[in-house]
Amino acid sequence: MPSYRPLPSTEEESNHEVESNHEVEKEVVLSPSLRGARWSVPCNTIPLVVSAFMLLLSVINVFVAKQHHRTGKECATETSIWCMPLPSLYLNALGALTVSAPVLEAVKYEDFDFQNDFGQLSIYRGPPTKELEDEWHNLTFKHAVKIPDSKVHLTNRHPVRDQLVRVMPDNGGPGAKGELGYSALIDVFHQLHCLNRIRQYTWLLTGNYRNTSDPLDVVPHGNVPGSPNSPGEDPRPPIPNDFMTTPLANRIHIDHCIETIRKTLMCHADVTPIMIMKDKKAPLKERADFSARHRCRNWNKISEWMDEQWAVR
Ligand SMILES: *[C@@H]1O[C@H](CO)[C@@H](O)[C@H](O)[C@H]1NC(C)=O
Ligand SMILES: *[C@@H]1O[C@H](CO)[C@@H](O)[C@H](O)[C@H]1NC(C)=O
Repeated sequence: MPSYRPLPSTEEESNHEVESNHEVEKEVVLSPSLRGARWSVPCNTIPLVVSAFMLLLSVINVFVAKQHHRTGKECATETSIWCMPLPSLYLNALGALTVSAPVLEAVKYEDFDFQNDFGQLSIYRGPPTKELEDEWHNLTFKHAVKIPDSKVHLTNRHPVRDQLVRVMPDNGGPGAKGELGYSALIDVFHQLHCLNRIRQYTWLLTGNYRNTSDPLDVVPHGNVPGSPNSPGEDPRPPIPNDFMTTPLANRIHIDHCIETIRKTLMCHADVTPIMIMKDKKAPLKERADFSARHRCRNWNKISEWMDEQWAVR
């Protein structure tokens, strides 16, 4: 009968160590090769295989998660026609996502609470004054930018490019220099212009602008709807130039602007939740929290880009 001597268990091992004064034997017992040999016992390979499998799974997990982690730049291209029809993975590898598209390169995301309660004060809110009109003008008015020849195909207007207006490199802003290109407005500024126009129209209808071509349009005591009394002086700014046309033309422009804002809001479809707050003072004992936290594009960065890169006055 063949003799069979089981490998020592850990307990036996330590007992053996304690009992033996023989240095060599001690070394053999503790040697890694001998311990490694113990793993070859079939029963002990299961934890090893399971661990290896788990390790492999987590490596795959990390890899997949990395592929699906979307940078702000990737999210921005998703909501832009400047997104190239290739998986972002390859775009990233080629560095194509960092290729500058007009203004897109200035897009940065940040989270903040809208401060938007019913009575919230704002430099853009209230009856028209010279300062308020200036603030709106500065917010909404930007010059055109240049779409370089090498990128115009991304706008889907390549087939009709002979109908597009070219940027003249010699008499434009900083963005006109370098590669030749085509002139373009950036839509958010058109959309804000439209909102401003609607705002002005509401104040026009309530007589909050002075009609400088109408000698009868005088408010002697400054008593204008929505304005504090300022005796002796008419606080109203003149009717904005844009409105110096027929009432029908004004109406058509305002309707275009309402459509612009409707389409824009639906296009971007902000799905931020507006929570309902308990409020003992509110008529229904609850109110919507219009100051919810939003994820936004940093406005200043976009505005500054426009100021630095404009091409056509
Ligand atoms: C609007 O912008 C101009 C030019 O940058 C500046 O001089 C003016 O102070 C601004 N107005 C307001 C109300 O911010
Ligand atoms: C301004 O006054 C002139 C002269 O009365 C009038 O013809 C014109 O329609 C007025 N403009 C507006 C926008 O009310």
